[in-house]
Amino acid sequence: MYILGINAYHGDAAAAIVKDGHLIAAVEEERFNRFKHSAGFPEQAIRYCLNAAGIRLEDLDHVGISRDPSAHLHKKILFAATRVASLARHQIKDRLGNAAKVRDLKDELARRFGVSKKSLRARFHNIEHHRAHLASCFFVSPFERAALLSIDGFGDFISTMWARGEGNSIEVLGQVEYPHSTGIVYTATTQFLGFPYYGDEGKVMGLAPYGQPRFIGEFRDIIRTEENGRFRLNLDYFRHHAEGVEMTWDQGSPVIGRVYSDEFTQRFGPPRTPGAVLTAREHDIAASLQLRLEEVGFHVLNHLHEQTGLTDLGLAGGVAYNSVMNGKFLLNTPFKRVFIQPAAGDSGTALGVCYQIYNGILNSKHRTVMSGAYTGPEFSNDQIRALLEQSEWPFESYTDKELTKRAAQDIAAGLVVGWFQGRMEFGPRALGNRSILVDPRRAEMREILNDRIKKREPFRPFAPSILEERVGDYFEQTHPAPTMLMVYQIKEERRKEIPAVTHVDGSGRLQTVSRELNERYYQLISDFAELTGVPVILNTSFNENEPIVCTPQEAIECFRKTKMDVLYLGNHAVRP
Ligand SMILES: [Fe+2]
Repeated sequence: MYILGINAYHGDAAAAIVKDGHLIAAVEEERFNRFKHSAGFPEQAIRYCLNAAGIRLEDLDHVGISRDPSAHLHKKILFAATRVASLARHQIKDRLGNAAKVRDLKDELARRFGVSKKSLRARFHNIEHHRAHLASCFFVSPFERAALLSIDGFGDFISTMWARGEGNSIEVLGQVEYPHSTGIVYTATTQFLGFPYYGDEGKVMGLAPYGQPRFIGEFRDIIRTEENGRFRLNLDYFRHHAEGVEMTWDQGSPVIGRVYSDEFTQRFGPPRTPGAVLTAREHDIAASLQLRLEEVGFHVLNHLHEQTGLTDLGLAGGVAYNSVMNGKFLLNTPFKRVFIQPAAGDSGTALGVCYQIYNGILNSKHRTVMSGAYTGPEFSNDQIRALLEQSEWPFESYTDKELTKRAAQDIAAGLVVGWFQGRMEFGPRALGNRSILVDPRRAEMREILNDRIKKREPFRPFAPSILEERVGDYFEQTHPAPTMLMVYQIKEERRKEIPAVTHVDGSGRLQTVSRELNERYYQLISDFAELTGVPVILNTSFNENEPIVCTPQEAIECFRKTKMDVLYLGNHAVRP
């Protein structure tokens, strides 16, 4: 039985495919069409999923999308009735248009794939957005029962939903509705701080440790906690509820209109112009925002623990990309084990749709555990060799053993190493298959990476990959973080040893690497540890200022443009 899940007409469009409960493939559209966070329809991602499963569209048994235009309809109508006068006519039309597209998924698929609608025998499902997030962090988690939290900007009129998962059922225990949303506060403040692009919230998280939370009073006024784990926004600071803020994606990547209101500028002064110097004010606003998000996160989760009595937690939703907050959950709430779905944001709802159908609707007994995020395209050594033979690049080929040893030597010698192996990762983090790797002992590597390759803001930290069994030697916390979505404090005495991955506050957004999860990457870090005594490598995503590379051609092109020192593609290495 084949199930296709889709996130479409929304940021991070994606597709996933499941066969008899096994996850065959999951991938974001941006990796194919090369528009960051690509919205719209994930046609190429669907094609890849069908190819990976070796089937045609007509062979699918179920198809689902992570939107349900009829969900929470009474709330939508109520809200629209009170606000409709203030919504511009075209905005209403856009919303209706989107809802219609979601409803006409079958037509759209048939049209795009050039088949007749009649030939599609699949049953079609609309899965409410947060139900898809919740399913994505429970049905593929290692937990038989768990408390679950989905927290994001908005989806289907809801910003936050929490639940208890057990067996094949997810029982919703509470929610926070439009227009109240922590994600919206983060996005609004990110815009105000002069970071205008979709997905820039991570930059503000990186900026926060430079500041003092001297505006925490303001942010406690902006997000107010209430009884029963709920919270409300002080809507004076925002435009989305009154005027409507539309997301468009004419150019492929989503663009969100201004979310903060004039009240925001009256309180904090004029917004920062993108690219202008960052001052103490920006640092302090970022620090205050981050602290308030964490407080609200603890508030929701402590309530969720009270409701469920459970200590295992599944997390999803765009706000679950806030790895600083995630790392603190284990210290500030009773939860002991956490599963964060690697594509916690909206792309992961494609996967959630599959399992909501498989487990939640069809009540199938089989359970899958998603360990790692390696669900995308891969390329054989022969394919790569053929490509290299046609190119102008000289290359060498190694055995598996030689490969990791040579790469470890290159990294230890201070080279910038492109590392392209196996299946591409699902979600925003490169986890050792589409990565750029350097020596974390060399503080200057941050600047080298920023100047030569990544062209990104100097305040943003780089992340360490560490052998799982050595985490306790370097970090204050030891809970595994295989998908790089937790930030822990690095032990004081270790910070000087790995300065390139130690953030200004002594923290690191680590990836714990085990042999079972990624044997080749584990061996590389082991070889590096043998050479240097340090079981840590700096790992940043394989891209310049674009989506992470998907194909070897893109890797070679990025290598050429950015002047990396050496590129490993499968068992081959290119040295210019
Ligand atoms: Fe979402």
